[in-house]
Amino acid sequence: MPRVAVTSRRDFLRVSAVGVIGLGVASAAGCSDGRGGSSDAVPDGGPGRPFMQPTVLASSGGTLDVTLTAAAALVPWGSGRRWALTYNGTAPGPTLQVRPGDRVRLTLVNDLDDPTNLHTHGLHVSPNGASDNVFVMVGPGERHTYEYEIPADHRSGTFWYHPHHHELVAPQVHGGLAGAIVVRDAVDDEPALRGATERVIVISDPRVGSDAGILDVSHMEQMQGREGDVVTVNGRRNPVIATTAGSTEHWRILNASPSRYHRLHLDGPAMYLVATDGGRLARAERADDVLLAPGERVELLVPIDRVGRSAFTSRAYDRGTPGMGGGMGGGMGGMGGGSGSSTDAAPLLTLEAGEGTGTDAVRPGSLSVAPPPAISDGTSERDVVLSMGMGGGMGSGMSFEIDGSTFDPTRTDIEARLGTVETWRISNTSTMDHPFHLHVWPFAVLAASDGARPAPGWKDTVNVPAGGWVRVQVHFTDLAGRAVYHCHILDHEDLGMMGVIDVR
Ligand code: C2O
Ligand code: CU
Ligand code: CU
Repeated sequence: MPRVAVTSRRDFLRVSAVGVIGLGVASAAGCSDGRGGSSDAVPDGGPGRPFMQPTVLASSGGTLDVTLTAAAALVPWGSGRRWALTYNGTAPGPTLQVRPGDRVRLTLVNDLDDPTNLHTHGLHVSPNGASDNVFVMVGPGERHTYEYEIPADHRSGTFWYHPHHHELVAPQVHGGLAGAIVVRDAVDDEPALRGATERVIVISDPRVGSDAGILDVSHMEQMQGREGDVVTVNGRRNPVIATTAGSTEHWRILNASPSRYHRLHLDGPAMYLVATDGGRLARAERADDVLLAPGERVELLVPIDRVGRSAFTSRAYDRGTPGMGGGMGGGMGGMGGGSGSSTDAAPLLTLEAGEGTGTDAVRPGSLSVAPPPAISDGTSERDVVLSMGMGGGMGSGMSFEIDGSTFDPTRTDIEARLGTVETWRISNTSTMDHPFHLHVWPFAVLAASDGARPAPGWKDTVNVPAGGWVRVQVHFTDLAGRAVYHCHILDHEDLGMMGVIDVR
């Protein structure tokens, strides 16, 4: 167990928490692979294995009743195993599949050695009581039953679940605690989607090792936002999807990396965007590069028009650095956080299309969904400022703030009125990008400082570029309650870049 000299409270919490996890699984690591453990002994993940998807737990007759057990485990990795945090033994965890109007009873069993809880990212459900309440804490050895009522008019799309216990979110998600939630409705049966081969693609970038030491990062890495050793799709490295020419792929893609941005690119067939976060698009749009910040999702249609092999990759993206070094102003410079930004392209998966019999490829077309309404008047405008300042106190480096404060669960930062629509100008005065996420209430992106055309569908997470801004319109149409908004670089959230909103 590492001994900590004079350090900040944050560092102390981190080191002690990780140390406890380590003790808890050391024996498991030792006996299962028989090698005991150094990280170099772990195999490379065996790229080229078949694509696999998480188990699906689907509702029936209007209800879904599931138990998710969070626990450390050794998961398959190439010809061997690697250490991970899992839901029901896998990382990512099972995919939950529901329909609008469903009731979900989800019992979270905490077999970790640390507190945890669960958040349903992007679901438009109540943030109160036993519903999607991130102020609930589930201690080690405890369990908690969440009850969600999915509104009858909930939009279909791709959402996800992950822990949300402040100060432990980044290590727990990076360890592997994440899973997809799919909400299906009649839109899924429309000609533009029906007949396509649907796949859930959870992108993570774990650190590969045989014990909990992989969760232990430096304070510099926390400030940069931790990134892993490899990029994985559903826990595998560069898996292969075997398909046939003439068919169409329908990918539901989730960026479950705590900090890494993925700029999605496919060499070969064209990709068509059909959904952003929690919103299907009225019309499919051709997309060559799709930037997916942490927490974001897209759905893509890929008509396979030829036989052959194509590479789906995560291209390099510069999300900036903390800009330590003093007096760097608003520039993009600053001392790097080591291997912080994603500077190299990484393979995600390989498509192998064989000879096909059918010519029934789904043609990307239109879906019967309404785009977010543009409200031009009567909305109040609010400023939200994301900043990184010097002097986080006790020599711990920088402070990560929203509107000049770090997270305090007892304080309410924004009060909004139920039934209103507000326009927010979210600006970023720092030298790094921050993906801004608001719980419960979806928004439409109106404009961004880089002049790029905003995402056309409903969003719950949006990248705010370094030194830039975005304007969004938040719809507080229904569901009162107290929830949070934060940076989805989860280390930044853990460092305090989070605020509380109360909608009444
Ligand atoms: Cu993925 Cu507070 O959320
Ligand atoms: Cu969320
Ligand atoms: Cu951030």
